[in-house]
Amino acid sequence: MLCIGHRGARGHAPENTLASVRKAIELGADWIEVDVYWVDGELVVFHDDRLERTTNGQGLLRSQSFAYLRSLDAGDGEQIPTLAEVFEAAAGKVGINVELKGPGTAEPVVQFLQDWQGQNPGADLSRVLLSSFCHDELRLVQQLDAEVRLGALFVDLPVDAIAQAQALGAWSINPGKEAVTEAFVVAAHAAGLKVLVFTVNEVVDMERLRGLGVDGIFTDYPDRLVSLR
Ligand code: G3P
Ligand code: MG
Repeated sequence: MLCIGHRGARGHAPENTLASVRKAIELGADWIEVDVYWVDGELVVFHDDRLERTTNGQGLLRSQSFAYLRSLDAGDGEQIPTLAEVFEAAAGKVGINVELKGPGTAEPVVQFLQDWQGQNPGADLSRVLLSSFCHDELRLVQQLDAEVRLGALFVDLPVDAIAQAQALGAWSINPGKEAVTEAFVVAAHAAGLKVLVFTVNEVVDMERLRGLGVDGIFTDYPDRLVSLR
């Protein structure tokens, strides 16, 4: 069962910062997950649509200039990173799951990946996963570059969730932990989909999901799953 550090290692460092990414790697995560928006012509790594919860700034993320965002403290003196900085810190060490948060992220992220591959001949696209709750963005990614692995995110699982993921050509289906049953895991695997479950912080839940045969979990505490293994 893969250990995917949620927003880096959110239980140990300010979420979605380079410190958090480095912490997840240090703790032994196999993959990291970060959230990405397209703001002022830049791919910025951030979770909320507003600045207040995780920075000393104010207002809507997408209304700001990149210069203002970079002037903020995202926790412990960390800056809001760009996607390029996350790749510099993590590529070749762990897999990278980029969650497309806002509208209009598909195109710049695909462009970014193509540039990254162009600049890094050894770049391994199988260690990159693009996911989103916004399946329209995933559809766009598929149209722009059919080779990129996609993860279809669901909070709850509608009865046709597996069919929806298959229609997107997804590599994985990524449900919230409450929704996952053994029958669901069996059906997803039969459909050729990996099952990656969010957000799993309690060891008892990690054990339950491992028993169900899921392929990976997102956790704020990569160390807990590493110890369990
Ligand atoms: O991708 C898993 C998880 O990150 C989805 O929810 O809100 O934490 O981005 P959220
Ligand atoms: Mg996320």
